[in-house]
Amino acid sequence: MSDVHIAGVGMTKFGASPERTARDLFAQAAGEAFDDSGLDPDAVEELFYGNFMGEFAETQGHQGPLMADAASVSAPATRIESACASSGVAVRYGVNHIRSGAADVVLVGGAERMKNLSTPEGTRALSAAADALYEVKAGVTFPGAYSLMANKYFDEFGGTREDLAHVAVKNHEHAVENDLAQFNRAISVEDVLEAPTVSAPFGLYDCSPMSDGAAAAVLVSEAFAEDHGMETDVKITGVGQASDSLALQDRVSIPETPAAVEAGETAYEDAGIEPSDVDVAEVHDCFTIAEVLALESLGFYEPGEAITAARDGETAIDGELPVNLSGGLKAKGHPVGATGCAQISELTKLLRGDHVNSDAVSDAEIGLTHNAGGTVASCVVHVLEEVDA
Ligand code: COA
Repeated sequence: MSDVHIAGVGMTKFGASPERTARDLFAQAAGEAFDDSGLDPDAVEELFYGNFMGEFAETQGHQGPLMADAASVSAPATRIESACASSGVAVRYGVNHIRSGAADVVLVGGAERMKNLSTPEGTRALSAAADALYEVKAGVTFPGAYSLMANKYFDEFGGTREDLAHVAVKNHEHAVENDLAQFNRAISVEDVLEAPTVSAPFGLYDCSPMSDGAAAAVLVSEAFAEDHGMETDVKITGVGQASDSLALQDRVSIPETPAAVEAGETAYEDAGIEPSDVDVAEVHDCFTIAEVLALESLGFYEPGEAITAARDGETAIDGELPVNLSGGLKAKGHPVGATGCAQISELTKLLRGDHVNSDAVSDAEIGLTHNAGGTVASCVVHVLEEVDA
């Protein structure tokens, strides 16, 4: 498979943007990606755009052409909905479109507005990513679903609430200097343990927040980059996507995420690497337990062994495998339709050396993103590599 080069990335600050629509946020992210790439919107041959709850938050459907217009792109434009993995899947479609030879230049990205909703409204909107008939009707929300996974994990493998607290502390610490992150505030283990309970064992700081934001990337074929003398720094060398049963009760094992295992294995094989080759990772930590499950599913740890990774400093900025140097969903924020492409944007900057935390990974050559939808009923994994590594 040919490699796809990341010509440019862009991302808004995540958080509350009460005066701005999703189209306005996406226009900014796409504009930054074009500036970063040196290409004009005219060069784009296809747009894949991720969004989850536009109908609910802004009564706005049919967002493909809307977002093409916002980005000044006149090319076929398709919206992709895959819950919190919407724009990660959009990136995969962009990569595969270029690899198939159907296009040389593709704009990918996503946006979400959530902060214009109250927390109950946002919770209700998010619950549409769960099984409406068997989970939502029984009262399951996403903090509730992931807390079931955490409690089952504790039952089967051990671990404590305090172990999870270290994941939140680490990711908040990583975001302190990241201007694009929603929270730039360090927190302590005590802060996490003493925070109001959301759904036991989770307190406030075990959860990603509701966020507004957008992210975009301009992808080009290797041939296009060469023909146009483009000096790209990062390429996508591996992609993988997989699905699982939507509802938790249909799973063989609740505290494991086989869709992430399969997406990871596919991406590793595609890139021709092993988990041990990965130097830095951005994983989908929508709740603290989700980071633990991701690290185990991706083969960095055996099942039951990643629970102490953050506590032991192994995934910290100076650890063996720095994880979520952007702050992750926990502290960078989680505008769900933008998250997957935001991981690509942050990791690209980390690898090419213009992220605030790049110095910590100056020797890194290979990075990985893991983006999940629902309780990991969808998962998409990308392997990124430095071009001159
Ligand atoms: N982490 C850290 N701080 C948070 C936070 C979070 N996740 N969520 C809110 N805050 C802060 C706010 O900034 C605010 O601080 P301030 O008082 O200093 O301004 C304070 O907590 C209260 O914010 P508010 O929005 O009123 O919180 P809330 O109690 O209504 O909602 C959650 C908190 C955790 C319930 C909500 O963010 C949530 O549902 N998150 C999960 C989202 C989700 O399920 N995403 C999909 C994942 S699959």
